[in-house]
Amino acid sequence: MRINSFSILVTTAFIGLNSCQYNVESVLYGTSDCPPIEATYQMHIAAIIESKCEGCHSGNSPSGGLLLTDYDYVVSASAYNGLGERIQLPLSDPNAMPPNGGLSACDVEALLDWVANGTPFE
Ligand code: HEC
Repeated sequence: MRINSFSILVTTAFIGLNSCQYNVESVLYGTSDCPPIEATYQMHIAAIIESKCEGCHSGNSPSGGLLLTDYDYVVSASAYNGLGERIQLPLSDPNAMPPNGGLSACDVEALLDWVANGTPFE
């Protein structure tokens, strides 16, 4: 009888410890499904902008008069042209960017984290 209660106690403690570990893991990696990255322009942002934005925001007459073809332009757009706001708008909003909704949730998260971290280049 004593042994049985003891093993129940041990089992409960074991399950309890495991759920603590699980909680720590979710704190470490965040609650989103996106890979935990410290986004830099070179490693992550340039590729997103190039594939999802430059089709319209490059060349001699870029859409909205806005070039996004290098680091300085993208930093400036995040500070002065509402880049961060526009990528979070629902597609039904005429100001949403990209207008056709080409960004994944992880792209948006990477861009917002990058802006919040002070737009590191590398
Ligand atoms: C299919 C073409 C297209 C794509 C792709 C596109 N844009 Fe745009 N963008 C436009 C047009 C057209 C405008 C001007 C009309 C407006 O202000 O909504 C604009 C305007 C903007 C503006 C506001 C400029 C200003 O000074 O007011 C920002 C910021 C912007 N886009 C960011 C982005 C970002 C970031 C991406 C990629 C994630 C992107 N756009 C992808 C067409 C596009």
